[in-house]
Amino acid sequence: MRQIDWKEFVKLRGHEKRPYFEKDGRPFHIVMAQQFDREFLDEICALATKIRGIAKSHAGRDFLSSLLRTRRAMLYFAQPSSRTYLSFGAACQILGLSTLDVRDLATSSEAKGESQEDSVRTFSSYVDLIIMRHYSEGLAERMAWMMNFIGRPIPIINAGSGKDQHPTQALLDIYTLWRSFENYGGIEGKKIAMVGDLKRGRTVRSLSYLLRHYPGVKIYFVAPPQLQMGNDLKEYLREHKVPFEECDSLREVIPLVDAVYMTRIQDEHGKIEGLDFSKYQFKIDYLRLLGPNAVILHPLPRRDEIPVEVDNDKRAMYWRQERNGMWIRVALIAMIFSKDQDILRY
Ligand code: CP
Repeated sequence: MRQIDWKEFVKLRGHEKRPYFEKDGRPFHIVMAQQFDREFLDEICALATKIRGIAKSHAGRDFLSSLLRTRRAMLYFAQPSSRTYLSFGAACQILGLSTLDVRDLATSSEAKGESQEDSVRTFSSYVDLIIMRHYSEGLAERMAWMMNFIGRPIPIINAGSGKDQHPTQALLDIYTLWRSFENYGGIEGKKIAMVGDLKRGRTVRSLSYLLRHYPGVKIYFVAPPQLQMGNDLKEYLREHKVPFEECDSLREVIPLVDAVYMTRIQDEHGKIEGLDFSKYQFKIDYLRLLGPNAVILHPLPRRDEIPVEVDNDKRAMYWRQERNGMWIRVALIAMIFSKDQDILRY
């Protein structure tokens, strides 16, 4: 790994940053979706499935909870979260890690003017892993970078950074698609619609980066023009020869696709006046238009983009997706601490 300074580092492309997020050739910091390759995605999905199986027995749960019993994790969540916070907390418990948390910056010494760097460095004095969600794009990346130069570097996991990336959500989304299409030829060749606030949705951005690893995938970006997918992501897809189309009508796309990935309009990033969002809601009659083996995903939370009547349809995967999030996060933490081989041998 070539030693470079931060200014040079931030100019690198996503995959070029990967060596700086690894230790001894293994994943260490989890910062952005571009750092994952197909081999890693296959490995983590298989490991999550193995862990799910082990956790079915009392002896298996005891084994898992013995793996990292002496370790501590910090949950540093400066933005609201239910699923990511709780599933990471549950994942830590499954592996025996104890957790500390800061969820309100008013209770941290950042409120006294401590810099973000000093805050995170302080957290690192007490724990072996920091899982962080922050409204600042790029902060997790900067903290991961900083870790490489301090006396006791610990892994940083990005649990959502501004409007930019949510790499562990993308892993659980891939795991959900992987399980859904296990008996239908895999994710390869599938047509996937991403719907809603694509411009400000970090989950759809991270997932789009990962889909390039599955040959034949085609993406339909269904959004109002103001909230269409960013040019940087579209450029990335063109470069990696991933076909995509931008569309305005969810109804027309539904019969064409194998998966519909719904998202919420993210008006915490600013209200968009005068838009008819009902065009981007999954109507109950769309169930008749959707293929029998197609699936509906949503990173959640939802508002009104999927009516509750859809929840009992066997193609609605979003509640399973939540639970998959816990298993994939167990697998991820186990990999970071090199416990994956112990698990696979169990
Ligand atoms: N999908 C997701 O990130 O949900 P939370 O905001 O509840 O963590």
